[in-house]
Amino acid sequence: MKSFSSDRALKFTESVIREMTRVCLKHQGVNLAQGFPDFPAPTEIKEMAIQAIRADLNQYAITWGTPNLRQAIADKFALYNGVTMDPDREITVCCGSTEAMIASLMAIVNPGEEVIVFEPFYENYGPDTILCGANPRFITLHEPDWHFDEKELVRAFNRNTKAIILNTPNNPTGKVFSREELQFIADLCLKWGVFAVTDEIYEHILYDGANHVSIASLPGMRDQTITINSISKTYSLTGWRVGWAIASAHLTGPIRKVHDFLTVGAPHPLQEAAAKALRMDRAYYQTLAKEYEERRDFLLRVLEEVGFRVYCPHGAYYIMTDVGHFGFSDDVAFAFYLVEKIGVATVPGSSFYSQASLGATKVRFCFPKKMETLLQAAAKLKNFETARARSRREKGEA
Ligand SMILES: Cc1ncc(COP(=O)(O)O)c(C=O)c1O
Repeated sequence: MKSFSSDRALKFTESVIREMTRVCLKHQGVNLAQGFPDFPAPTEIKEMAIQAIRADLNQYAITWGTPNLRQAIADKFALYNGVTMDPDREITVCCGSTEAMIASLMAIVNPGEEVIVFEPFYENYGPDTILCGANPRFITLHEPDWHFDEKELVRAFNRNTKAIILNTPNNPTGKVFSREELQFIADLCLKWGVFAVTDEIYEHILYDGANHVSIASLPGMRDQTITINSISKTYSLTGWRVGWAIASAHLTGPIRKVHDFLTVGAPHPLQEAAAKALRMDRAYYQTLAKEYEERRDFLLRVLEEVGFRVYCPHGAYYIMTDVGHFGFSDDVAFAFYLVEKIGVATVPGSSFYSQASLGATKVRFCFPKKMETLLQAAAKLKNFETARARSRREKGEA
């Protein structure tokens, strides 16, 4: 009998984030693990999808996206990010930014070429680099402010570097890369002819007056950047699977070919509704950020009150925490204790690092949830605090 699994598939595990959702369902816990909203998506966008289905836009759309959606993407990118792109030749609509990322990397990276990834990183980038045969080079984001060491980054670039993956605002850290940091990265990309592949899916979820800068808008970077985004987070539509890659025509050509043979195309009626979403007023994005900021502040306070060490995020909707002082053997043991005994699901920190030991004292919480869900989580976390106090008393500690 031949091996069931390809060597490639053996090199990575199932997603820990998605696994925690399944474990949470089993224990009927509060899911602060996987980053998806439990509140409704905007009514007008849902109505538009229903209308599109009734209008029988139910067959394959053009492989790289409906003209209407590609135009809306180009208009919004010009308005909010300051970069003008041609919707006919420089935009590819995919099944979520997940597909946009893997299609982009498969389109530009050869086996054996190096791809730079900031660590901790969104879990998918690990398997993404493996699936395209790349050698990842990890650059540490140092807590508490998640800065990177410029010298370490300079050393990572070489003739074999093909791409650098960016994610700003960042999951899991909540870091928002500054213009100066992006300029530093851009200068290295320009020097070495390296492509920036930037996942900007949280671009509108910003706190404390933080600004989002697209690296594609920096001088010289328009034609050396692939900007990835989707409707998942900005419009609370993670289940629709509509995302896109924006890149110069030379890069878009190969991306479109890979995309075509991976999925043919994203759901047609949902693309029409997505076009409407992208044309929302500016006020929509301001309200989105404000409401998330309230949830962030609430969860930060709760976590601190029950004894977590927190890293305050300035963007995206996650809070990284340090749990080393709770005395568990590692992050996975702690996360399973929290979901099984306390009823709150989180993601073990190790799933965001190339080596499990690097994330062994961390867990990530997410907060795209109704206030009532966060209140339920808060009540359960109070039980954690009580259980901890009892165990300290039993051990004769203060
Ligand atoms: C940084 C980042 N990129 C991509 C995704 C997935 O996006 P999509 O739903 O568009 O595939 C997520 C989801 O959590 C994410 O955090």
